[in-house]
Amino acid sequence: MASFLTCSALFTLIFIFLITPFFIVTDAKFSEQLPAPKASHIVEKMSHLHFYFHDIFSGKHPTAITVAGRENKFGGTVITDDPLTEGVEHRSKVVGRAQGMYAWSSLDAASLLVVMNFEFIEGKYNGSSFSLLGRNPFLETVREMPVVGGTGLFRFARGYALAKTFRFSGGKGDAVVEYNVFVMHH
Ligand SMILES: *[C@@H]1O[C@H](CO)[C@@H](O)[C@H](O)[C@H]1NC(C)=O
Repeated sequence: MASFLTCSALFTLIFIFLITPFFIVTDAKFSEQLPAPKASHIVEKMSHLHFYFHDIFSGKHPTAITVAGRENKFGGTVITDDPLTEGVEHRSKVVGRAQGMYAWSSLDAASLLVVMNFEFIEGKYNGSSFSLLGRNPFLETVREMPVVGGTGLFRFARGYALAKTFRFSGGKGDAVVEYNVFVMHH
């Protein structure tokens, strides 16, 4: 009796192992390994970008708004669609936009978490973007934030941005920030 049970259990197992694979459809592929690019095919470029970022809360057409929390206080969260210009003046040529958000993320209210896509509309970078994710202790003269990826000409981007406040109008919170970005990309 015992050996009969063992035998039938064995048959069941064999049946499951032999038959089941035929019922699993495997034509869809979730991921695949691509051959590693040959070193000679990778041409990494280093770009330096220089522009001014205009964070505008005042006036009829603000490009930055506080959407949550208290303004300029821990937890305050701002969404931006800020113009990036070639020169320091607001009416200078717009070369791109900084679309994203920042949040007051330190208890002493002196540093921000920045999550932002910089999209460009000028010259060869038109249509390309890179993403910045970092900490911005905005009272410091120069803040460094990582560039963590990109699209278009900035594919595989990595690098860093140096942000330096050029002008800050305390009352409304409007700011003009000079950016120097060094980015390696394919
Ligand atoms: C940027 O690309 C868009 C879409 O392809 C095009 O309409 C626009 O004219 C381009 N701008 C410049 C300055 O080349």
